[in-house]
Amino acid sequence: MELFEAINGRRTIKDFRPDAVPADLLDRALTAGLWAQNHRLTQPWRWTFLGPDTHRRLAETFAQSQAALLDTEATAADHERIRAMTADKILGKPSVVAVSQHLDGSPVHQREDYGAIACAIQNVQLAAWSEGVGMQWSSGKIIQLPETYELLAIDPAREEIVGLLFFGYPAHVPPAQPRKPLAEVSRRLP
Ligand SMILES: Cc1cc2nc3c(=O)[nH]c(=O)nc-3n(C[C@H](O)[C@H](O)[C@H](O)COP(=O)(O)O)c2cc1C
Repeated sequence: MELFEAINGRRTIKDFRPDAVPADLLDRALTAGLWAQNHRLTQPWRWTFLGPDTHRRLAETFAQSQAALLDTEATAADHERIRAMTADKILGKPSVVAVSQHLDGSPVHQREDYGAIACAIQNVQLAAWSEGVGMQWSSGKIIQLPETYELLAIDPAREEIVGLLFFGYPAHVPPAQPRKPLAEVSRRLP
């Protein structure tokens, strides 16, 4: 796939076919992330590949945390509906990789490291896309739960989870959401 075609055509994919993503394809995409620019070569990214058991446990943990947010008037049936819906949503993502930032250095350095990880994630997503695999960067509540850290064996004192990457073959590619034209978001100085 030509570079601009990948950059412009890449979309965030949330609906996946159930087919598994081949492990070597996933490894190639993640390896593309390692070549992202990163100031002082800190290589701040840490990737945690979830196996089926951890994936299932994460789905259940998140589902229970979502059901626990229901108000006191919610019935047992409401709890079960939210639990099942949330678990199904997470289990519908064929492959999951957590990305965390190795926490090191001053706040300025950590900000730069977060920037580097964003560059790495973009590389990963483009590399996957070029092989027909879609991805979603998820930064929702699920990455903040202490239970998620525990389940993924990530020590919050040393690493911060910046996203879950959901991979799979797209069942649906959403239309591109328009971007403001360059002229609207830029200024040209003499
Ligand atoms: C830091 C960051 C966090 C994101 N978190 C989420 C998320 O939690 N859920 C989600 O659906 N998309 C998330 N996205 C993806 C954006 O929603 C997506 O890029 C945007 O809607 C534009 O769609 P596109 O990627 O198809 O062009 C995130 C993107 C970034 C850069």
